[in-house]
Amino acid sequence: MGKIQVGDKHFIPFITAQLIRQEVDRIALEISRDLAGTRPVFISVLNGAFVFTADLVRRLRFDCQISFIKLASYSGSTSTGQVTELVGLNEDLTGRQVVVVEDIIDTGITMGKIIDILRGKGASEVRIAALLFKPDAFMGHFRIDYLGFSIPNEFIVGYGLDYNGLGRNLPDIYQITDES
Ligand code: IMP
Repeated sequence: MGKIQVGDKHFIPFITAQLIRQEVDRIALEISRDLAGTRPVFISVLNGAFVFTADLVRRLRFDCQISFIKLASYSGSTSTGQVTELVGLNEDLTGRQVVVVEDIIDTGITMGKIIDILRGKGASEVRIAALLFKPDAFMGHFRIDYLGFSIPNEFIVGYGLDYNGLGRNLPDIYQITDES
């Protein structure tokens, strides 16, 4: 793993695929202990969470459903703080145990909005699983039930996360460098 370029910016290695695997294993174990038997609905937030979701759900050995939603709040490398509507949810959530699966929680604006919408649809409980969390940027009022890594407030790419649409396919996670 060395320094890489994504679009017009440079990035350095930050979290290896092996370390990610370990954390996903741990999160899957915790979720299994808590929710096996409740037949939960996992709601993956596109686009970024598709890699984390695919790895996470393949470690679960109990009945569950998996659905995908889209709700964009980001452009380029700084949050616009703007949130649009939720698209793609077809399941009836009435009385269901829901787990929202997100790649990263930054300001928390996106997740806050998603939680409100899902509660409005009658979910019995909404839990949050996030691989990454930037506590210094967070302005939300919700708890992250299942978390991989708390990280500094720096822009990252890889493992589903993009910079202007690029870098999602990288197996490891990289952090932007000052010289970018
Ligand atoms: P929030 O609403 O500020 O919490 O932003 C959450 C969304 O911003 C995530 O789903 C990501 O798509 C995007 N995001 C936040 N931080 C990063 C980052 O460091 N790299 C890439 N995308 C990010």
